This record gives sequence, C-alpha cells and structure tokens, in this order.
Amino acid sequence: MFDRFDRNINYLRISITDRCNLRCTYCMPAEGVPMMHHEDILRYVEIVDVVKVAAEFGVTKVRITGGEPLVRKGVADLVEMIAAIPEITDLSMTTNGTLLERYAGDLKAAGLQRVNISLDTMDPVRFHEITRLGDVNQVIAGIDAAIAAGFAPIKINCVIQNSVDEPDAKLVGEFGKSRGLQVRYIHQMDLDSGYFRGVIGGDGGNCATCNRLRLTSNGFIKPCLFGNTGYSVRELGARQAIENALANKPECGSVNTTSEFYNLGG
Ligand code: 5AD
Ligand code: SF4
Repeated sequence: MFDRFDRNINYLRISITDRCNLRCTYCMPAEGVPMMHHEDILRYVEIVDVVKVAAEFGVTKVRITGGEPLVRKGVADLVEMIAAIPEITDLSMTTNGTLLERYAGDLKAAGLQRVNISLDTMDPVRFHEITRLGDVNQVIAGIDAAIAAGFAPIKINCVIQNSVDEPDAKLVGEFGKSRGLQVRYIHQMDLDSGYFRGVIGGDGGNCATCNRLRLTSNGFIKPCLFGNTGYSVRELGARQAIENALANKPECGSVNTTSEFYNLGG
C-alpha cells in the first residue's frame, strides 16, 4: 500500500507487551510502568487477524517487539500463527536477549526468521547501570543460543549517547565482529522533544523512506513513532484502522507526548 508521499508501506511492527524484565534508563522509569489492564491487551488471535488484514494491504514484513516480547507467555505460538500467513515473508523479533537462551530454539522451530538483540555495552557494571536489572552474561548466552539455533542474520542494536567511538559502543562493535554479527548504532532518542536521528547501519529514523506502521499492545495502529495519532483496531476494525493510519502517516515525524518506547517497541 502506498501513502500520500508515495512510500510503499509493507512493514508492520507489533508491540505485544508494555512490560519488560529490564529498566533501561532511556526507556523506562526505575519503578516500572503502570500495568495495562489485561483486557486492554490484544489477544494473539486478534493480533493475527490484524496481520492478515495488513497482508491484504501489502504488508510482507512483520517484527514482534515490546517492551520485551519474550516476557509474554506463549510467544512461540504467536510466531507460528504469523509464520503461517503466506504473504508474510520476513518475520523477525527485537528482544533484549535475556530470555533467548531459553526460547531461541522454540522460536526458530515456530518459524521466526531473524532476531535483533539490544546490547549497549559489554561491561557488566555498565550494563547493570544502563538496564538497572540486567546481567550482560545472560544476554551473551542468549546471543550464542540464537546463533546455535541458526538465526541469520542476527543484528545487534546498540544505543549510543554521542558517537560510535565511545567506549561502550566500541566494545559492542568488537564483540559483534568476534561473533560475525552486524552492529547497528542508534542515537538515544527523545520522543517528547522529537529528537531522532537515522540508525547508523540500519534504515530506521529516515522519514523519506519509512515503510512502517505500528500496532501497539492495546490495539492501536500508529502511523508514526514520532506522533500522537493512533487508530483502535477494536473500535474501528483492522481494515479501517489501517486505512486511517495510512491516510494520516506524516511526511516526517514530529513529537510523541503520549507514548514511550516501552509501548512502541522502538
Ligand atoms: N532511544 C533510542 N533507542 C531506544 N530504545 C529504547 N528506548 C530508546 C531511546 N530512547 C531501543 C532499545 C532497543 C529498541 C527496542 O529500542 O535499545 O534496541
Ligand atoms: Fe526493556 Fe528494551 Fe526498554 Fe530496555 S530498552 S527497558 S530492554 S524495552
């Protein structure tokens, strides 16, 4: 499907939960976030229905995100249902990697094709500072489990403050090289101020070529990460919600004062 600016929208990013087992300083407050009501979260069958409609509109690429998607029960079942939709030829997940050691094999067997893993430093002390709760060795074990399960390519998302030469970023770069993984650097963004930059080594953050729509865990189709608009699939039906989002996808992002990264999935 083409939007008003002739961009071919073929990519749906789905946040399946707001919750996370980490508390990265740039993403979540230390105390966590108010829990959404269980009834407000789309069930897997509802998500699959949205993907089927999106596929009719020309979506071929789906990414499952969070929060942390692997904290939601039965993710492999969702993967299997989406993988069974013939038009979806690229099915991936963004995860913090902490639970991958446990789930990588199941996800691969269910039909997940690719994983992107967030990793901002290799230094255990720095990792704990940034994530407030995390153990970097768990993530490394998760990455190795993903490699062993046969995921390819595996990409590492590394959030940087200023430059790819800062110490944490350099260590992640070296680690990526040692495992043969592609490292993409993401400038720390601020939704409130609308501060965002292109992903270094990736294609996010470039409005002119943005091919995405987003589905939030509570069922809103959002045309842009940097905007407040969203259309409820439960109120409007998936078809109308997607049409509205398409018609209102802005030429370029501005500010988002109503959501946070943990409910947008980056
Ligand atoms: N700026 C840039 N990236 C962010 N992420 C979360 N919050 C921010 C932010 N403020 C990233 C995570 C992960 C992806 C889901 O989004 O590091 O790679
Ligand atoms: Fe969790 Fe990812 Fe947010 Fe960190 S950036 S708190 S891992 S959702």
